[in-house]
Amino acid sequence: MRKNIKNLLKMENLSNEEILNLIKRALELKNGAENKKNKNIFVANLFFENSTRTKKSFEVAELKLALNKIDFDVSTSSIQKGENLYDTCKTLEMIGVNILVIRHKENEYYKELKKLEIPVINAGDGSGEHPSQCLLDLMTIYENFGKFENLEIIIAGDIKNSRVAKSNKKALTRLGAKVSFVAPEIWQDKSLGDFKKLDEVIHKVDVCMLLRIQHERHERHEKDEKDNFLKESYYKNYGLTEQRYKKLKENSIIMHPAPVNRDVEIADSLVESEKSKIFEQMKNGMFMRQAILEYIVEKNNL
Ligand code: CP
Repeated sequence: MRKNIKNLLKMENLSNEEILNLIKRALELKNGAENKKNKNIFVANLFFENSTRTKKSFEVAELKLALNKIDFDVSTSSIQKGENLYDTCKTLEMIGVNILVIRHKENEYYKELKKLEIPVINAGDGSGEHPSQCLLDLMTIYENFGKFENLEIIIAGDIKNSRVAKSNKKALTRLGAKVSFVAPEIWQDKSLGDFKKLDEVIHKVDVCMLLRIQHERHERHEKDEKDNFLKESYYKNYGLTEQRYKKLKENSIIMHPAPVNRDVEIADSLVESEKSKIFEQMKNGMFMRQAILEYIVEKNNL
């Protein structure tokens, strides 16, 4: 992608100031601020991996902003005839699409798209990053605490395969939060930071962020171990049980990007508990994606 094009591919693409501006704009929109209306701007949503929240909230955000939403069904597209990602995206550019929203199973799929002259919003790349999820998570944390500095945040789950863990660790750390992880040995990636035991930290955390076990990204040997974890001990050792919930600080919150494996990452009874922001995250996601689209439209003079 050309240098003068503003994309959102990873959290590094945004300064701290830009992150805070996006959070404030999304909160304004949530509180009823008027949408900016756009004319003659076409947005294509290309989802090569399954999605409910990200895809549908981008679609609602696009409609609210009066952007022209172009559906792209991978299963009936010329991808099925062997057309590659770049040729597909270039074709959309040439027929008048102005913005691409892409989710893809390959990490950094966007490196193939360097010659495009339209911006790309990354809706998740393999186990790489998920910047719009990260931004809605940051919005939810900011909405609850009004700050990031010195918040104690634990991210628990399938860290190695999680794009949410990577985006959130990078962004939260540079905004001043203290982030550590909880995971079974097989899903740890020590290059990301400190790994702790949930029972040693649960009483201290401000944010307890649980992540989905990424079944679809597991190698065969991980699948075998995962089955054992699920059957025997994942919930007991790494899940948010009712007993652990009782140990959380009074003002702490629970987050999960969802979809949730109930009674695996979190007790079924806690998904909508008082401390849980899981469904609020989804609500915030639509407003944050509106803010992201406004930002991309403005920065690219569309
Ligand atoms: N959290 C998230 O990315 O959900 P979807 O896979 O449903 O988009």
